[in-house]
Amino acid sequence: MNFNAEFRRKIDIVDKALDFFTKPIDNEQSAIYEAMRYSLLSGGKRIRPVMVLACEELFSNEENSLPFACALEMIHTYSLIHDDLPCMDNDDLRRGKPTNHIVYGEAMAVLAGDALLTNAFSVALKHSKLAPKQTLNAALTLSNAAGTEGMIGGQVIDMASEGRRIDEKTLRTMHLCKTGALIIAAVRLGAIAGGASLDDISRLEDFAHNLGIAFQIKDDILDVEGNEALLGKKTGMDKENQKTTFVTLYGLEKSKELLNEYTEKAKEALTFYGDKAEFLIKLSDYLLKREV
Ligand code: IPE
Ligand code: IPE
Ligand code: MG
Ligand code: MG
Ligand code: MG
Repeated sequence: MNFNAEFRRKIDIVDKALDFFTKPIDNEQSAIYEAMRYSLLSGGKRIRPVMVLACEELFSNEENSLPFACALEMIHTYSLIHDDLPCMDNDDLRRGKPTNHIVYGEAMAVLAGDALLTNAFSVALKHSKLAPKQTLNAALTLSNAAGTEGMIGGQVIDMASEGRRIDEKTLRTMHLCKTGALIIAAVRLGAIAGGASLDDISRLEDFAHNLGIAFQIKDDILDVEGNEALLGKKTGMDKENQKTTFVTLYGLEKSKELLNEYTEKAKEALTFYGDKAEFLIKLSDYLLKREV
């Protein structure tokens, strides 16, 4: 398999659908669409929706998960817009461009995030090609992943931990929630759409659990030694915001070891699927080595 070509093909499917699902409506409130689409359609690796499609492919030849894949990317983008606000990480560069609040102001950035979150559910439910029971299950998966026991919960720990040291267990919980939750949701959504069994779902969750932590460890490493121009976001911000990260707790070398360990564990969880999991395994390696 040509991984890069397949990755590109999946990204194109997602990008076209995101554009279609968020078409502006020409009315008094149309300014909101510009702010939403500014962040949503401005690049981004599209890891989560691509994972949704790849997981569905393990079980089916359809692309029924696409509306849910797009909803997940909309929720992820909302989390980034709010994460960048002055009251949170106070970042002014994202996906290679000025952050949403720098361009549209804080009030509009809050609304653009709210709108992406809310409309994610309309997009998924309006365009769902799944049976009613699967649709409900997928919508609940999205909501749980984004909510207090998922991404929001992780962000709460992240904020509370600024300026003070947290222990290893809390750090892992934080990473698992703020970043792992949406990555775990990605595999669940693909599996639900593909009609996977509960055993399959738990195997994929094991994969995503480890990959999610690895993904945030890499993010922490890149904040220290990444290249701002390649990353499209400011480096050194974790230090400036006095965050506890894998790097502050374990140092760079040990963080890299842990990154490798979690990535290996993630890939091991896929051995059951043999060649069928080739794309997901190559994606894990790509995420391990990424500079973006
Ligand atoms: C950044 O996520 C925020 C984290 C959860 C670490 P990504 O690295 O996936 O950001 P984009 O979507 O490619 O911009
Ligand atoms: C973000 O973590 C996790 C989210 C839920 C947005 P970070 O704050 O480390 O993400 P970046 O580094 O700003 O992309
Ligand atoms: Mg943050
Ligand atoms: Mg941030
Ligand atoms: Mg970061």
